[in-house]
Amino acid sequence: MKDRILVVDDDENVVSYLSIALIQEGFQCETASSASEALTILRRNGQKTVTLILTDMTMPVMSGIELLEQVQRQFPIIGVIVISGDKNLNLAVEAMKKGALDFITKPFKLEIILPRIYKAIERVRLERENREYQEYLEEKVESRTAALIEKHRSLQKLFLNTVEAIARAIEAKDLYTVGHSKRVSKYCAYIAQKMAIDVEEIHNIEVAGLLHDVGKIGIADSILGKSTKLSIDEYESIKEHPLISLKIIDPIKELGRVKEYVKYHHEKWDGTGYPDGLKGEEIPLGARILSIADAFDTMWIGRQYHAAWNLDQVIQEFKRNSGTQFDGKVVDAFIELIREDEVSFNKIRQENPPHFKTEQTHLQ
Ligand SMILES: [Fe+2]
Repeated sequence: MKDRILVVDDDENVVSYLSIALIQEGFQCETASSASEALTILRRNGQKTVTLILTDMTMPVMSGIELLEQVQRQFPIIGVIVISGDKNLNLAVEAMKKGALDFITKPFKLEIILPRIYKAIERVRLERENREYQEYLEEKVESRTAALIEKHRSLQKLFLNTVEAIARAIEAKDLYTVGHSKRVSKYCAYIAQKMAIDVEEIHNIEVAGLLHDVGKIGIADSILGKSTKLSIDEYESIKEHPLISLKIIDPIKELGRVKEYVKYHHEKWDGTGYPDGLKGEEIPLGARILSIADAFDTMWIGRQYHAAWNLDQVIQEFKRNSGTQFDGKVVDAFIELIREDEVSFNKIRQENPPHFKTEQTHLQ
């Protein structure tokens, strides 16, 4: 079956002459006596039912050019040939500019008009094929992208789970640090979100939270688990853990900035921290956030050398050390966060019963 052509003309004679000729040629034919009737037919039957419109230029209410514009906007896959009794060249130029496939002047002979109809139909077909191929490619790209994103997510999840497992293995050696890295990672994400840091960086800081103490694997258990005061030498040994952490994760190039956050998580704003004694903004923001999250967990859950505190005590402690040990900006954001969402922090504490010790015997 050949394509369907819609003939639009307010002159009944033209409509019947053209439709009979087109049907004899083997086309399917639809007719309309006005532009609005043509649009109604298209809306009712859908744009895929018609390949080509032959429209008269001069019709009452809506002209052929206006119909052409409407078709271009609403039914872009249909081709339009404009027919006019007016031989004015400007009209032809205007029609072609607006997207007509051809401009035919009346009176016309069938043997002249038919080849031009075939040519227009061929162009519509090519354009449709092109469009379909484009859509097919877009769909393909979309589905491939979705699959890649999914793959990336699951790899990321696998990576985080692995990192978490490593942290858990180290923490399992010490009752007081069980779950510490995961909680620190969670606080890191809270603070970074509160400070409106971009998503990728939030993720980096979160991962640094999980990894920051992996270096403790290189510290003697007798020192890590000690509940009495550390000797100077023992404290010096503890201070090596950020660099040991870095050594462990250094070969993983994908960790990027995570490494410097891990390395510098014991630096202090006033330059008295370790390993490099960095000062103020020399310390990467991720490390400044991590240092606060780390200290918070010690205060909130407690250690063998540190009793768990309530939130007011924690806030007081942060205020006392703001601008010396900690970056004041991060402290302010964190205090605001604690006040806004005490519920979440209390929930973490319920899930991780705090360690109550009265003495604070660690050297720190
Ligand atoms: Fe640490």
